[in-house]
Amino acid sequence: MNDVCNKIPRHIAIIMDGNGTWALKRGLPRNMGHRKGTQTLINTLKYCQQIGIEYLTVFAFSTENWSRPKEEVDYLMKLPEQFLEKYHTEMIENGVRLRVIGRRDNLDIKLQEKIIQVEKETEANTNINFTLAFNYGGKDEIVQATKKIIVDVIDKKIGINDVDEKMFGEYLYTKDIPPVDLMIRTSNQIRISNFMLWQIAYSELFFTNTLWPAFRRKDLNEALEAYANRTRRFGGIK
Ligand code: IPE
Ligand code: IPE
Ligand code: MG
Repeated sequence: MNDVCNKIPRHIAIIMDGNGTWALKRGLPRNMGHRKGTQTLINTLKYCQQIGIEYLTVFAFSTENWSRPKEEVDYLMKLPEQFLEKYHTEMIENGVRLRVIGRRDNLDIKLQEKIIQVEKETEANTNINFTLAFNYGGKDEIVQATKKIIVDVIDKKIGINDVDEKMFGEYLYTKDIPPVDLMIRTSNQIRISNFMLWQIAYSELFFTNTLWPAFRRKDLNEALEAYANRTRRFGGIK
């Protein structure tokens, strides 16, 4: 950690990719990769908290992942409930605030209730903001926000000229969350796959070959070190 204490990102987002590949490489079913990935997630959350990251957002299931075989979708749908069941006491004790972003309407009702429960239980926590993007799509988020804005314009709660970038951001799932400073994707896939399209407008991007279940502190340190050496310009000049 010696050389990565310089500039710490406030908000890290991670596309946790490579679970299936990790499992297949070991002759295991893909779902075992997802299970192992859950362990990586809890360890990463603890480490981020330890080093003072304020916001950690992770991509766990995309609006496109429904197209996978039923057995895998069923397994992935069960994971968040198990995760929240297993770790919610620990999250409360450690001051973790949980948010879940993404579409809720087509999720199992029990999962919806569990999400509401844990969000409520942790809402006063301030140690780290942990956001799970589940059944999330960046394009879908923008479409949903647009619809809500149109309704508010029709209802005369706002006028068309009130709509600017700041107001638009307030209609997104991430309304209470700052923009992403550092976006990490594992598994050597150099793409965004519909994750946080609005929020990564000026993020620094970091791609690693490491598969998500094998992602460790040293991998995060590498990303932090790369981040600390970047110059962010936001369109200006330095
Ligand atoms: C990421 O791992 C988890 C989800 C997308 C749910 P993958 O399941 O995409 O693993 P690979 O990319 O096939 O290795
Ligand atoms: C992105 O990974 C979604 C998650 C990590 C949850 P995918 O594995 O679904 O992305 P593509 O299909 O390789 O672009
Ligand atoms: Mg993948």
